[in-house]
Amino acid sequence: MKNKEFSFDLRQVVFALSDALDLVGVDDVAHGKRVGIMSANCASVLGWDAQEQALMFDLGMLHDIGVSSTQTHLHLLQEFDWPGSQEHAELGHGLLSEFLPLAHLAIPVRYHHTRWDRLQEMVPQQLSQQNALRANLIYLADRVDTFAAPYYGQRLFDHVPDIRERVRSVAGTYFSPQLVEAFVGASMTEAFWLMLEPRAIESYLRDQLGRGDHPRVGMQELRVLASIFSRIVDAKSEFTATHSLGVSRLARFLAEKMGVSPENCDKLEVAGLLHDLGKLRVPDEVLNKPGKLDEHERQIMNAHSFETYQILRKIDGFSDIALWAAYHHEEPGGSGYPFHVPEEKLSLEARILRVADIFQAMAQSRPYRTGMTSEQIRLFLLELCSKGKLDAMVVDVALANMAAAMAAASEAPQ
Ligand SMILES: [Fe+2]
Ligand SMILES: [Fe+2]
Ligand SMILES: [Fe+2]
Repeated sequence: MKNKEFSFDLRQVVFALSDALDLVGVDDVAHGKRVGIMSANCASVLGWDAQEQALMFDLGMLHDIGVSSTQTHLHLLQEFDWPGSQEHAELGHGLLSEFLPLAHLAIPVRYHHTRWDRLQEMVPQQLSQQNALRANLIYLADRVDTFAAPYYGQRLFDHVPDIRERVRSVAGTYFSPQLVEAFVGASMTEAFWLMLEPRAIESYLRDQLGRGDHPRVGMQELRVLASIFSRIVDAKSEFTATHSLGVSRLARFLAEKMGVSPENCDKLEVAGLLHDLGKLRVPDEVLNKPGKLDEHERQIMNAHSFETYQILRKIDGFSDIALWAAYHHEEPGGSGYPFHVPEEKLSLEARILRVADIFQAMAQSRPYRTGMTSEQIRLFLLELCSKGKLDAMVVDVALANMAAAMAAASEAPQ
């Protein structure tokens, strides 16, 4: 592995990236964490050990890793047993299987929308009883959260008896009777529900981060995890398939040409993969709008690089990555967004990422047009340079290596 000295706290990275998943809720951005907290509390009532409780919390945070569309999120929120729900469970299973340190969560994610009576037909040939219980506990907590969602902060306790009854009424069909009993026991206390309020969630997260062992991951693993999240973001829109991967490759290519240190090239590659994480919060209809955005929609869209920053800055060792990613819409002339960083404070890496972002977007084919030719891209980049919107040195390097830059930006994923 290159850069042996480089390592990150895996739990911190996972917690931060779960913030990104939660953004898909748009206005309600703590679904995964609430499901994690409820599941861990039920696990404790069930007598499962501390390690299993921590696993249930992580599983809760990541269970909807296959959802990037705000429309899908809405269906899952509003319908008890939505026919389309299996798709995101399969997608999530596939993504988690690729990353060894989290691969043990893949099976429970696959079945977190499967009824208990169906799961029992699969045990033990297709899955272990333990994974059936894990998956079903997530399903239960997930449904409790959707029942409770309209009432958070608004007389939730008036509705608790009804929520408990709804869960009880599907014991043995949708949910394991044993898990329902644990939930009914745990949810008798006020604390179970008060724990789901934003401030309590924050403290819970702090406790969790301070606890247990903290496996570390190196650059190689970080890149795999970042590429998984880049695909979640890119899957949100058919306009952007493989965008983040192309940006990341092109940024690395340009950085190497410009003599950026190997360590920073690695970091820039990760920043490229994660630069549009904040787009998970942009509603599908804004992101995919075929025409021009109105003023309000533009404001929503332009907040995405700030959201990216909010997520990434929480990870120790990520300060460069967070800033470069956050600055990908900052312009050397100070006219970009959201910070309006003055030219002298824009690092070379941030300028490279900006050029890579625009270059890739132009080179990529879209449903309504094929990608631009190198000549069209050349003219457009020069025009943006002349307006102070792109760094001229970086653009020069891209133009001097046009064929290779095109290949880096648009290569199909391996
Ligand atoms: Fe789900
Ligand atoms: Fe962006
Ligand atoms: Fe982008």
